[in-house]
Amino acid sequence: MEIVKYPDPILRHAAAEVDEVDSAVKDAVERMCETMRSSSGVGLAAPQVGIGRKIIVFKPCPDEQREQILINPCITERRGTIEAEEGCLSFPGIWGAIRRSSNIVVTGYDLKGNDVKVSASDFLARVLQHEIDHVEGMLFVDRMTPECRVLVRDALKALEDAYNQSAVQDGRRS
Ligand code: CO
Repeated sequence: MEIVKYPDPILRHAAAEVDEVDSAVKDAVERMCETMRSSSGVGLAAPQVGIGRKIIVFKPCPDEQREQILINPCITERRGTIEAEEGCLSFPGIWGAIRRSSNIVVTGYDLKGNDVKVSASDFLARVLQHEIDHVEGMLFVDRMTPECRVLVRDALKALEDAYNQSAVQDGRRS
């Protein structure tokens, strides 16, 4: 499954809450896990596969294949601040330093509709904040410092040109 790339407008829309874990939600989770695996990602949000629902998948341990999913994820506690390099599957080739909370608590639901609470620090806390931003329509470039934005400006422009080019081609085909 293709990953939706910047500047596709779906990445800018706040996703809808999931009211019921129906077969569409289970389907979405399966596709998201497959896509994350095939792209060697550590986290993925539903809008990145074109689904506007509040669903994220992530690898709680980067070295293990196991995935965890969270439906309607919400950060309920934050502590500390840490800056580190970050990238995004929807922004191939772009990296930048982003400040995030170093420790967070996230609540949400699993596929059975059970309450889930995840306490995360450092790398996992960063992954979760990044993916939760995605379901709110917030992108990591929005959180870059102005200095960092200048450094990635040309790369962003190249993604915009590629997107506009493929939109023109899609228009010709239809
Ligand atoms: Co991302």
